[in-house]
Amino acid sequence: MADVYLHGHHTSVLASHGVRTAADSAAYLLPHLRAGQRVLDVGCGPGTITLDLAEAVGPSGAVLGVENVPGPLEQARRSAAARGDHRTRFELADVMALPYAAGSFDVVHAHQVLQHLTDPVGALREMARVTRAGGLVAVRDVDYASMVWHPASDGMTRWLELYRRLARLNHAEPDAGRQLVAWAHAAGLTRLTPSASLWTYATPEQSAWWGGVWARRTLESTFATQAMERGLATPEELAEVSAAWRAWSTHPDAWFAMTHAEVLAHV
Ligand SMILES: C[S@@+](CC[C@H](N)C(=O)[O-])C[C@H]1O[C@@H](n2cnc3c(N)ncnc32)[C@H](O)[C@@H]1O
Repeated sequence: MADVYLHGHHTSVLASHGVRTAADSAAYLLPHLRAGQRVLDVGCGPGTITLDLAEAVGPSGAVLGVENVPGPLEQARRSAAARGDHRTRFELADVMALPYAAGSFDVVHAHQVLQHLTDPVGALREMARVTRAGGLVAVRDVDYASMVWHPASDGMTRWLELYRRLARLNHAEPDAGRQLVAWAHAAGLTRLTPSASLWTYATPEQSAWWGGVWARRTLESTFATQAMERGLATPEELAEVSAAWRAWSTHPDAWFAMTHAEVLAHV
């Protein structure tokens, strides 16, 4: 079964992924990184986290970001050039069949990737295969059912319902976070350090940004085209969902939180 990446790579999606940092997305991993390590970042998207990981392992380290589609790699290479990073490499590779020898990396990382795959356990096995004995596999995924917000609205409730239904129709798992430990066990990984962390959008600036991102993504990204192609929503319904995000984004009491699960697996 081929993976369908629900978000797609529309500019509205890359813009929201392109503000991520290792500090806000991989804090559980940063204390374990050392100068000189070889790091693979699987499903690196626009590469901002990847480039932060490269800073953490320093000029003696080697970081490679991979994607199974070329679109985000171009943005990642541009970001690297803008940061003056001429060492980090970005290339095409599928997490289900990584073109690297066993034990090639000290750390293999994936942020918000397993939730989009039809076989997350197979992906973890492949990530572990290319990790050296004594190295780390590091994964972090959100759990969509954990998303809570205020004020409530029918439009945003409909958005979450649509997203979770679409992900399941793609044979992916929107509530991935709660299953990371189970998937790691199923992949044969036994020495685990699990943790969890929240993203919150609670200041006027944060809610304006987050609400604005989803107001656009609801109308312009693959989420919109898939929802219509699958017959789950009409353009009018999507316009209502987008308007609900816009209204939330400017509400003075706006508050949103979501849980992310993290697993460090000691290979
Ligand atoms: C939600 S994005 C996360 C991007 C980045 N890790 C971040 O957090 O900013 C998930 C990424 O995984 C990539 N992806 C999906 N399936 C993949 C696969 N089979 N192999 C490699 N990358 C994949 C998608 O193209 C997408 O860019």
